[in-house]
Amino acid sequence: MTEPAHLTAIRESYDTVAADCARLVKEPAELDPVSRAMLAAFGELAVPLGPVADLGCGPGKVTAHLAALGVPVFGVDVSPRMTELARAAYPELRFTVDSMTALDIADGELGGILAYYTTHHTPTQWLPTAFAEFRRTLAPGGRLMLAGHVGNGEHLRPTRAYGDHPVSYESRLLPPARIAELLGQAGLVVTTRVVQEPEEGGGRQYGTFLAYKPE
Ligand SMILES: C[S@@+](CC[C@H](N)C(=O)[O-])C[C@H]1O[C@@H](n2cnc3c(N)ncnc32)[C@H](O)[C@@H]1O
Repeated sequence: MTEPAHLTAIRESYDTVAADCARLVKEPAELDPVSRAMLAAFGELAVPLGPVADLGCGPGKVTAHLAALGVPVFGVDVSPRMTELARAAYPELRFTVDSMTALDIADGELGGILAYYTTHHTPTQWLPTAFAEFRRTLAPGGRLMLAGHVGNGEHLRPTRAYGDHPVSYESRLLPPARIAELLGQAGLVVTTRVVQEPEEGGGRQYGTFLAYKPE
């Protein structure tokens, strides 16, 4: 089957910016305390239920942070170059190349899914496909943590966030209520929503959602 154009664009752009991305992405220790607390809470909820997939893991820094918290986690990214860099940085962890919209993971295999600052690359009309994959691959009771930019429907245009090459964004920044609604429509139960306001003028709002797949 032909791959959707947005996936090719994401892969090509992240393959190109991989080294800059690996250098510029914050170390989890530099994240704000609320974000670190949410990651720790997610790890605690997901661990008893099976392996955890960090989807859109990029350079693997957050994957390694969860692993250091005792979470049995592996990373997945659509960019082979990002995945190579993650493997080189954390050879003790497993990283695979795959898309969150069509995962090579069996039904019910996962205790948890982390989607950390990655779903904003997925065009809005493809989010239901990704969220259906989350539900399919989670075990009953399995946990999701989704964190990322939120907004009021404004279009994210390609930016030069990592060096000179634009990164492919085709999505709109959705309001938190809309993200929760789409997760609910995919059959996931949202238990927690945290919205963080930009601390200094000009930044974006961040949203973090915890959800689970009902038994
Ligand atoms: C901004 S980086 C975030 C990396 C990491 N989650 C972090 O916070 O450090 C976004 C990553 O998501 C990956 N990505 C985007 N869409 C994806 C998809 N459909 N499936 C898998 N990975 C995807 C990109 O290749 C890129 O490495």
